Amino acid sequence: MEKISLVAKHAQDKSETDNIFGVNSAANAKAEIVGKENIVNASIGAFLDASGKLITLPTVEKTMYSLPFDDVANYAPIAGLPDYINAVIDVTFGENKPDAFVKGIATPGGSGAIHHAIWNYTEEGDTYLTSDWFWGPYKTMAREMMRKIDTFMTFDEEGKFNLQACIEKVEALAKVQKNVLLILNTPAHNPTGYSLTDDEWQALIDAFTELCNKKENNIILFVDIAYMDFAPEGSRKFFKKFSNLPANFLVLVGFSMSKGYTMYGYRTGCLLGISSDEQVITEFYDVNQFSSRGTWSNCTRSGMRLLIDLWKNPELMAKVNAERNEYRESMEDRAHTFINEAKEVGLKMCPYDSGFFITIPTTKAEEVGLKLREDNIFLVSLKKGLRIAICAVPAEKIKGMATKIKKAIDQIEG
Ligand SMILES: Cc1ncc(COP(=O)(O)O)c(C=O)c1O
Repeated sequence: MEKISLVAKHAQDKSETDNIFGVNSAANAKAEIVGKENIVNASIGAFLDASGKLITLPTVEKTMYSLPFDDVANYAPIAGLPDYINAVIDVTFGENKPDAFVKGIATPGGSGAIHHAIWNYTEEGDTYLTSDWFWGPYKTMAREMMRKIDTFMTFDEEGKFNLQACIEKVEALAKVQKNVLLILNTPAHNPTGYSLTDDEWQALIDAFTELCNKKENNIILFVDIAYMDFAPEGSRKFFKKFSNLPANFLVLVGFSMSKGYTMYGYRTGCLLGISSDEQVITEFYDVNQFSSRGTWSNCTRSGMRLLIDLWKNPELMAKVNAERNEYRESMEDRAHTFINEAKEVGLKMCPYDSGFFITIPTTKAEEVGLKLREDNIFLVSLKKGLRIAICAVPAEKIKGMATKIKKAIDQIEG
């Protein structure tokens, strides 16, 4: 039968199966047979307790319920509540605010920030760059907005961030495209858990500054900090390096309350722009505000109000930070348990510093993933490896995982 399609040309064949949802369903189906307690479901990228229930920060919950409904039910300004933007700037940079012009636009989560960066800083048909281990929606957004995505090898042979590959890719794209947008998800990268060191940041900034000084290109560096609150203290120092950059070197930061405040569904985020040039920042503010009006309009007022209330009350904020730290430490424990066992059994993994995920490289991710299901372990298979959501696995179930994964890889890869 002839295929009927009513969608416009640009929307033809747009579809995507939700891999994570599929793995989660398979884990739940198996749990019905063998019992939930015997299942390791490391698929979901959210903090879960031993029974699979979402863990939330108690002070965030309490503060949210204290907000007056006749305020939070109202519209918010398109660019976001002004104090929300001030709060975002403060909680993002802390003492490391770059010496530059900084403005922000509220977005529905970090996703909205990435959307605006791609839409407003690349042309239709342009390519943008990220590392070859990357969060899938970066690619979905390229298709959605009629752009292309290209990647560089994330790690070198020593397991360090591959500076050379990153810089070479940026330089190569700069030869064919005026604007080069590079998305880097750090600290606590999804899916590997890697965080760029301050020296690596410096090397990148030096290389991009040199490129910008030739005045032929604009560099747009997007830093996706979705997991930053789960990186150890001191992980914000790199922001200071974004001071006094050339006017054609714009840094964008994608802030999200999804993970750091356990507010995934509240869709509260922000796109921050950092530039040495006031005009660049005024333009940043104008075009991105316009795009918000032209897409989702304003953002969730309650999410913004919540951050304002925490920010205005240091005692409350300290409580939230303490509660989050507890979870961060529990994740560190889980990661150490896994990493130590991986070392013992000789299981290769991508370099991990912090965050929700650990990744195991394998060329046979699909097959190894299926094999592990026989052992009641459910992981997400990526193109180049397996993603383990340690955020979703209670500590007592982490023990033994590395051994079983190693065995499955040896069996499948031979
Ligand atoms: C790497 C990365 N960036 C950004 C996001 C954006 O999340 P949200 O739109 O919920 O803030 C996520 C969420 O999973 C992520 O993993």
